[in-house]
Amino acid sequence: MEIGVIGGGTMGAGIAQVAAQAGHEVVLIDLNQDVLKKAKANHLKIFQRLLEKGKITEVEKEKAVNNLNYEKEYWKLSSSGLVIEAIVEDLKVKHDVFRQIEDVVGENCIIASNTSSLSIASLGSALEISRRVIGIHFFNPAPLMPLVEIIPSVQTDSSIVPLVKDLMVKWGKTPVVVKDTPGFIVNRVARPFYGEALRIYEEGIADFETIDWAMTEIGGFKMGPFTLMDYIGNDVNYAVTESVFASFYYDPRFKPSFTQRRHAEAGFFGRKSRRGYYDYSEAAVQKLPNKDKELGQKIFLRIFSMLVNEAYDAKFMQIASEEDIDLAMTKGVNYPKGLFEWSKELGEEVVLNELKRLFNLYGEDRYRPNVMLKQKVGVI
Ligand code: NAI
Repeated sequence: MEIGVIGGGTMGAGIAQVAAQAGHEVVLIDLNQDVLKKAKANHLKIFQRLLEKGKITEVEKEKAVNNLNYEKEYWKLSSSGLVIEAIVEDLKVKHDVFRQIEDVVGENCIIASNTSSLSIASLGSALEISRRVIGIHFFNPAPLMPLVEIIPSVQTDSSIVPLVKDLMVKWGKTPVVVKDTPGFIVNRVARPFYGEALRIYEEGIADFETIDWAMTEIGGFKMGPFTLMDYIGNDVNYAVTESVFASFYYDPRFKPSFTQRRHAEAGFFGRKSRRGYYDYSEAAVQKLPNKDKELGQKIFLRIFSMLVNEAYDAKFMQIASEEDIDLAMTKGVNYPKGLFEWSKELGEEVVLNELKRLFNLYGEDRYRPNVMLKQKVGVI
């Protein structure tokens, strides 16, 4: 099957590479010729590196290179069986592009979006044959991150879902099927990792260094929340938080933070601007964390409990299965363990007690324990 990919930026180029390596003829479309040139040069560099490392053979490299076609015109998609759109996150622009795709492809072509935050239903509404729409959400960098969220919308023909799922497995990915709801699994369940860390900082309980230390050294996460936000970019991470908050009709669980907003407003984006929560300039002086074990445990338990509560809420609202939520968090954002598995080990009652403590202390809806977690512990 021929694959079309629209947008040769960060995600599109990565998705095109994955499809080409899986043996498909790929048409990568971008309006900008320079982007296409850059994507091609990057692909060649990556395949050369993979060859040198012994990860692919000369024949495989040649095949992948030959599979990739870089084009400016949409009509080149005419024989595609699946087109994945990965252009700017703007509903109007995506609608336009969806219509242009539909104008040139056959009626059985599946039209997918890699959107992180727009609803698949809203995207599908632009299509004449909207039952062919689906979300196929890769993670950055697409060739390296195994997780792919597959999102059928209310319009999607259910027979497409297993087709796409099988295809993703063939591409070497770990697919999970998710309901068409804000943030899908990962960008929803991971919110407290940032939000609760920011809240702990804002309350003056601990500084960035100490919170990061607690989450990595005590929690075992690969990166602390502030290091991770600096890596993602505070502008990007804040925008996602704000969009998820609005999409959930302002549920306080997803409330954005002034601290992050001010950092984004100040241009303290993180690594890319050499200043975020941390200073990445050469003159930077490293501050040491407060390695108080008891404080570290408290910080970890609070953030962890909020993450587990979110995972339970996603399960309760039938967003995805427990297994898929655990897979998503380990394969999409590298959590050391799935949140359900982890909470079983630590004890669900420990998590529930922490949430109850926070709820009683603050009286805020943000900390309400999920009903399914309460059922699990047997309190209702
Ligand atoms: P990007 O800005 O790196 O690339 C977008 C590309 O689309 C640009 O090269 C641009 O020239 C091209 N483009 C814009 N309009 C076009 C059109 N009408 N026809 C053809 N090409 C067009 O963006 P990025 O980061 O790759 O994001 C793309 C999509 O993937 C967005 O929907 C984003 O939400 C989603 N996404 C991004 C992730 C990330 O970490 N960057 C992760 C997962 C999803």
